[in-house]
Amino acid sequence: MRPDEAAAVCRLVENVFNEFVAPTYVPEGIREFMKYVTPEKLIKRSEENHSTVIAESYGRIVGMVEMRNGDHISLLFVEPREQKRGIARGLMQRVIALHNCQHITVNSSPNAEPIYTRLGFTADGPEQTTHGIRFVPMTWTRRTKRDSVNQASQVMARKLAEPER
Ligand SMILES: CC(C)(COP(=O)(O)OP(=O)(O)OC[C@H]1O[C@@H](n2cnc3c(N)ncnc32)[C@H](O)[C@@H]1OP(=O)(O)O)[C@@H](O)C(=O)NCCC(=O)NCCS
Repeated sequence: MRPDEAAAVCRLVENVFNEFVAPTYVPEGIREFMKYVTPEKLIKRSEENHSTVIAESYGRIVGMVEMRNGDHISLLFVEPREQKRGIARGLMQRVIALHNCQHITVNSSPNAEPIYTRLGFTADGPEQTTHGIRFVPMTWTRRTKRDSVNQASQVMARKLAEPER
């Protein structure tokens, strides 16, 4: 994200938040969230320990992810018309490659928990609320090659153990 794109990124985040997340928050949570999403703060954080990657379609910003310290998702938002087309997955792949992530945490809004689950995150505990912000703490861990091999051999073992039909 370039600094001159911060205002458009914040507009996208605010619009999507208002449609999908705000209806499930109390006013304190909405205020708290809005304090976090201003162009000045987004730029300042990106000069410190955050990075923001955007997704564009025909020159329009349609999605964004903000990451803290290369291991925590602080914002992930995709424009409603462009949702369910793999944009969030693409943004995640991009930041994972960028930071060579091994572990990623996120405080998922309750509405996004099934989506983070599809992206490979697991819940670390029950829903919590801080300053009116409802969230489920979740973690993603890179699967090692050995994990994939073990999983493949387990599938094979299961197949071999299944009776012939
Ligand atoms: C969360 C969000 C960014 C996902 O963006 P997206 O571009 O639609 O996500 P993708 O298309 O990459 O989908 C990722 C996975 O989630 C699944 N998914 C997407 N939307 C879903 C939904 N509403 N319910 C269940 N699964 C869903 C997809 O099928 C995909 O899984 P698959 O590849 O195994 O099929 C978007 O829904 C959003 O902006 N929501 C509102 C804001 C929000 O809650 N952000 C999170 C704050 S912590």
